[in-house]
Amino acid sequence: MMYGKLLILLAASHLVFALKENPSILIIGSGPSGIAAATRLWKHNFTNIKVLEAENRIGGRVHSVKFGDAYVDLGGEWCHGKKDNIVYNMVKEYNILRHTNVNIQMYYANGTLLGHDIYNNLIEFAESIDASVNNTEVEEACGNFASIGECFDKRFNSTFIKIYKNDSGKQTISLEAKEWLQNYMLGYDSPSTLYDLARRSSYKRCEGDLALNWNGRGYKTILEVMLQQYPDKNKELSVVNNILFNKEVTRIDWGNNTQVDVLCTDNTTYTADHVICTASLGVLKSSHGTLFEPGLPAEKVDAIRKIGFGAIMKIILHFPYTWWNTAQAYAFVWSAEDKEKVLTEFGKGPVKNGRSWLTTNVMFFTAENNPKVLISFFAGDMIPEIEQESDEVLIAGCMYMFRKFLGGTYKNISDPDDIIKSTWRTNPHFRGTYSFEHASHYEQGLPDKLAAPITGKNGNPTVMFAGEATHPYYFSTVHGAIESGYREADRLIHYYAPE
Ligand SMILES: Cc1cc2nc3c(=O)[nH]c(=O)nc-3n(C[C@H](O)[C@H](O)[C@H](O)COP(=O)(O)OP(=O)(O)OC[C@H]3O[C@@H](n4cnc5c(N)ncnc54)[C@H](O)[C@@H]3O)c2cc1C
Ligand SMILES: *[C@@H]1O[C@H](CO)[C@@H](O)[C@H](O)[C@H]1NC(C)=O
Ligand SMILES: *[C@@H]1O[C@H](CO)[C@@H](O)[C@H](O)[C@H]1NC(C)=O
Ligand SMILES: *[C@@H]1O[C@H](CO)[C@@H](O)[C@H](O)[C@H]1NC(C)=O
Ligand SMILES: *[C@@H]1O[C@H](CO)[C@@H](O)[C@H](O)[C@H]1NC(C)=O
Ligand SMILES: *[C@@H]1O[C@H](CO)[C@@H](O)[C@H](O)[C@H]1NC(C)=O
Ligand SMILES: *[C@@H]1O[C@H](CO)[C@@H](O)[C@H](O)[C@H]1NC(C)=O
Ligand SMILES: *[C@@H]1O[C@H](CO)[C@@H](O)[C@H](O)[C@H]1NC(C)=O
Ligand SMILES: *[C@@H]1O[C@H](CO)[C@@H](O)[C@H](O)[C@H]1NC(C)=O
Repeated sequence: MMYGKLLILLAASHLVFALKENPSILIIGSGPSGIAAATRLWKHNFTNIKVLEAENRIGGRVHSVKFGDAYVDLGGEWCHGKKDNIVYNMVKEYNILRHTNVNIQMYYANGTLLGHDIYNNLIEFAESIDASVNNTEVEEACGNFASIGECFDKRFNSTFIKIYKNDSGKQTISLEAKEWLQNYMLGYDSPSTLYDLARRSSYKRCEGDLALNWNGRGYKTILEVMLQQYPDKNKELSVVNNILFNKEVTRIDWGNNTQVDVLCTDNTTYTADHVICTASLGVLKSSHGTLFEPGLPAEKVDAIRKIGFGAIMKIILHFPYTWWNTAQAYAFVWSAEDKEKVLTEFGKGPVKNGRSWLTTNVMFFTAENNPKVLISFFAGDMIPEIEQESDEVLIAGCMYMFRKFLGGTYKNISDPDDIIKSTWRTNPHFRGTYSFEHASHYEQGLPDKLAAPITGKNGNPTVMFAGEATHPYYFSTVHGAIESGYREADRLIHYYAPE
């Protein structure tokens, strides 16, 4: 009875506190999760909001840049699926998204176009060990292994020796294409090797078209939709004026149970009732120890350590004219011989374990509505070094590949006249591209631990966490990031208006 009364009293005092008018809220980061949180709170009349952004632009890992005839994306590029995809649902009425024709053709190092069956068999193999496609199947195939890398090693040779047992030419080429397939799979999840990639996965694919593009408008369109700048610029939410740029947060002091103090590199300070931190997992990994005072709870530090965070890279080239077939994507299969030769024939740029950076390419494809622009992906453990490389070497490397693999097919290959590249891994405000489930520390529920808010004495959420890596099953995506931002906005909305 006594306890019952006490609880009622506590609940009542909690309510009094909770009814504070227009609490102050700081959102760290203006990527998709930060913009989602800010816009939802704003629409619920929380106007005492500031978004502190370290870069000089909004969007974070969504970064659409005008290049050539349209926008290209240095970060997030496709809306992955339709069903239960919040991005798809937000824009379907505007009819912007388009199906992406990814007609990948594989070329061999001697310039021959390879039969499509090789590509199909490679992709089928990749899907057979991708837990996000069919967990049961992967459980059966890879149950004895912790990592995709081990399972891959164990099954690849025997699979292709069997498939091409009557065709020794194709057997050799498919075995040589192993490295390409590894690059391809690394590109999906971004670890530096497949041995880091857990065999189990909680990731969920949204059903429907997995590669919807923005028809040349860039993924930034989703930020414009959330900020109500699109489709009608006059309806823009004025929370956009509360986004402050070049505000790199270096300290989040949450020791006082009611208020949080935030310090930026320019020595400005902010105090707020609530902080929503959306910095990437890469940023948390590298700086949580100094960023938070006091240090974060052990559970959260554990999650920060155990979830993987990797990097891929894009090199985007503009040409004076289109010399390739824009309806095609190009994948290059190195022969064992040419893998060796490249080290002497093209000695420039990073080399690791006897491998040239050129062999870490995944593919080249034409940018949407941008026929003079080729986008390429690179993946794997050389990304940090490739990001550091000069434009001249990157261009020379791509040209070396075009002439080797495509020189027989296209007689009029030109040098590019412009280049942009991503540097997500190098940039201290990201330190990589997206999170993945790490083989060495796989556990279910890690994103939830990362997402758990820090609460004060009254149960008030003081420091909250959003961002791609905090999503239990849509991590690594823009739709996951946006849902996580809404989740934390809703946490505050419900806190201040229970029921
Ligand atoms: C190359 C690449 C390709 C991708 N492709 C796809 C794709 O096709 N489809 C898809 O769905 N997803 C894709 N993604 C993933 C998607 O872009 C991300 O999951 C999503 O943008 C993450 O949003 P976020 O808000 O969690 O983090 P972010 O976008 O990283 O936003 C966090 C913000 O916090 C800021 N910040 C960091 N530290 C501080 C600090 N100390 N102080 C102040 N501000 C700080 C950062 O500058 C950043 O703006 C891709 C990502 C990359 C990089
Ligand atoms: C926000 O405030 C306006 C004006 O006072 C009110 O009409 C509206 O219902 C409020 N919105 C919410 C979600 O509380
Ligand atoms: C290239 O290699 C393939 C496979 O070994 C072979 O069939 C083809 O004839 C070669 N082409 C040239 C031009 O050497
Ligand atoms: C997944 O794989 C299992 C085992 O191979 C199979 O029985 C099941 O039908 C597959 N499920 C789907 C959705 O493809
Ligand atoms: C697979 O085949 C390649 C090329 O023939 C060979 O170098 C490699 O050692 C084989 N790997 C395994 C695990 O058998
Ligand atoms: C390989 O050749 C054998 C004997 O000629 C034939 O029975 C078999 O069906 C062939 N296998 C494939 C995969 O083509
Ligand atoms: C916490 O901050 C509030 C507001 O600045 C202040 O009134 C209070 O004294 C502080 N409490 C402690 C324990 O520092
Ligand atoms: C911030 O303050 C520190 C310590 O007072 C000082 O060393 C530094 O130069 C200041 N930085 C800026 C950008 O003013
Ligand atoms: C290559 O294409 C460009 C643009 O179409 C054209 O101007 C040029 O003459 C062509 N060169 C050759 C060698 O075909």
